[in-house]
Amino acid sequence: MTKKIGIVTGGGDCPGLNAVIRAIVKAGALNGWKCLGIHGGFDGLLTPTRTMPLALKDMDGLLIRGGTILGTANRGQFAAKTGHGELRQVPQKTLDQAKINFDTLGLSGLIAIGGDGTLTIAQKMFEMGFPVVGVPKTIDNDLDATQMTFGFDTAVACAVDALDRLYSTAQSHSRVMVLEVMGRYAGWIATYAGLAGGADIILIPEITFHYDSIVRKIQARQAEGKDFTIVIIAEGATLEGQNFVTLNENGGDREIRLGGIGHMITMEIEKRTKKETRCVVLGHLQRGGQPTQWDRQLCTRFGVHAFQMITKGQFGMMVALKETGMMGEVTLKDAINKIRRVDPGGELVMTARALGISFGDEPAP
Ligand code: F6P
Repeated sequence: MTKKIGIVTGGGDCPGLNAVIRAIVKAGALNGWKCLGIHGGFDGLLTPTRTMPLALKDMDGLLIRGGTILGTANRGQFAAKTGHGELRQVPQKTLDQAKINFDTLGLSGLIAIGGDGTLTIAQKMFEMGFPVVGVPKTIDNDLDATQMTFGFDTAVACAVDALDRLYSTAQSHSRVMVLEVMGRYAGWIATYAGLAGGADIILIPEITFHYDSIVRKIQARQAEGKDFTIVIIAEGATLEGQNFVTLNENGGDREIRLGGIGHMITMEIEKRTKKETRCVVLGHLQRGGQPTQWDRQLCTRFGVHAFQMITKGQFGMMVALKETGMMGEVTLKDAINKIRRVDPGGELVMTARALGISFGDEPAP
């Protein structure tokens, strides 16, 4: 009898989801496995089930296509996190119904592609007897169990492109340009993009900032004859003694949306330096479009390895990029709820500081 794998994409979308789906379906087809897409996240497993057969012929062009052909959800019945990442129990009745439908569909394995929230649900489902394997996705790159998540490289490329564009207009108008990027509680996108895009000030959640330091940096540049300044700020960065800036105070059945810090500091910088200052919020541009070559190969490797894990019965595990640069596995239990953040004393930050890049925390000389 042909074996069948269910594939589900959960949480916020990101470039590369389709490339993972393609890799699983192609590797599966070569080995006589069929694949079934679950539509709209885990909710697709509820009644009536929303599924779609994934044939080899449907995979054409998916390597480079953004988003997910399966749809996704980061709220609703299967939302694992609410507020500022607080765990939420999915009702047992919902999980039981999903299991009944999963069995009725005749699936021998389930590959769940998602971030921490999706993988937390996947672990719960594994404990209930689902033969599940996880694939780590998120532009935030904040999962500790893998050296890199897919989607991150593409998001950084998007932010660097934005910085390159802001550079010329900042220079022409002698302005301060502030770019707000995503990343939730981790500053990976801001730090990598800031380094690659030549930012003068990088503000991240891991290092609280104060205005005096930012103003000093802008004035120091001015004194050197550099009449413009580029600031990149992560949405989760915080001003000393203050809380996260959010777009909705109460997340309800989803996580709180971070954002607004860019505009906040823009007004304050302009007030304090008397320099014209503008803010650009990059937002979901970071999550759309074609994956970079790095993400394409990472997704392809993740997808093939996840398929192989299913064939070997390595359930309750997540595929991971190991320190060696090779594919490996880690238990879902060890992978979830361990957020990886930028080390304020680490090489990345130290390299930036060695170039004179400010993190908004430098004391007065
Ligand atoms: O986790 C990915 C992410 O893009 C975060 O960087 C951001 O805070 C959040 O999702 C935005 O979510 P939504 O698409 O629901 O606005």
